[in-house]
Amino acid sequence: MKVFMAVCMLAVAVRLAAAIVVPSAAPCALTVGFYNGKCGNVSVESVVYDTVKAFLDADKSKGAALVRLLFHDCFVNGCDGSILLDNSTTNPSPEKFAGANLGIAGLDVIDAVKAKLETACPGVVSCADIVVFAGRDASRYMSNGGVNFDVPAGRLDGIVSSSVDAQNTLPDSKADIGKLIANFAAKGFTPEELVILSGAHSIGKAHCSNFDDRLTAPDSEINADYRDNVLSKTCKSAPNPTLANNIRDIDAATLGDLASYVVPAVGGDYLDNSYYKNNKNNLVLFNSDWALVGSNATLQHVNEYAENGTLWNIDFAQALVKLSKLAMPAGSVRQIRKTCRAINY
Ligand code: HEM
Repeated sequence: MKVFMAVCMLAVAVRLAAAIVVPSAAPCALTVGFYNGKCGNVSVESVVYDTVKAFLDADKSKGAALVRLLFHDCFVNGCDGSILLDNSTTNPSPEKFAGANLGIAGLDVIDAVKAKLETACPGVVSCADIVVFAGRDASRYMSNGGVNFDVPAGRLDGIVSSSVDAQNTLPDSKADIGKLIANFAAKGFTPEELVILSGAHSIGKAHCSNFDDRLTAPDSEINADYRDNVLSKTCKSAPNPTLANNIRDIDAATLGDLASYVVPAVGGDYLDNSYYKNNKNNLVLFNSDWALVGSNATLQHVNEYAENGTLWNIDFAQALVKLSKLAMPAGSVRQIRKTCRAINY
């Protein structure tokens, strides 16, 4: 305990001195309101929220991107900003180069927040915390306030980012239920939490290469009209095009008769429990989505969240907080990067 406190205090002292590297094994405990009073008279969380809101007002697709960014950063070696790192001469293949990170976006939002905060208080706010705050704020925005929660902060940035780690760790959209459950269990998540977090697929889009296995799935696993007239046609329309995750966000002409299954939402592209209703109708994009109704371990939770959107909002918020607490491996080198795309030298 004494060692933990000593290292933790060192980290705080280093932050205050705006120095760079904290070569510690034990991170500080994360706390809600961590940055209160640490950035002059600037509210760090307000800067993040205002910046995210401005970007999303201009382009709502960035909302889904930021929610996914939180997941992909935190799942691979903990929340450490490693998804943000560009390739360099010393690290030619960072996480963002992994196939599992195809379509990753929203990094411009993180850059903009970081630039503002570095101007206001250099060396204080980590990129890892910005990713988590931005994912939280995007969830709130995309759910019209339905998903709204405090998230603890005080993370530091890592210096390791490997496309191989990302590929080996992130779940595969073509995986079966056994693999998905094992994949989430490896990070301490239950099958119920797998179901809860997958509800994020009520927003955003995906590339054909991530759902082309569904073009040949049997009628028992996918609505045939959706498979043949929406997924197949989309995939033939261009080289690896994208399609909305939620049928609600597909234009009516493409949907045809399937439009009767659309779960309406205020403003479209809306983070809510429609994912579970679509899933029960065999109208979800990935095999990993459908797999949740194909197993008793998860089907009961799909049914529960299809029925109760308010419960899903609460449980999704809790699951995101749990995701945001995934920590870097013990002994990792920690720092507060000057720019989120490169480690400090
Ligand atoms: C259950 C395991 C999961 C698998 C296999 C999976 C897989 C995928 C894939 C393949 C895409 C499409 C990427 C593309 O083609 O561009 C995607 C998109 C997305 N995923 Fe997941 N995902 C999973 C869980 C999650 C979780 C836990 C979250 C967040 C809490 C999440 C949030 C999103 C969002 C928001 C998008 C849309 C991104 C955008 O439009 O920019 N996913 N996911």
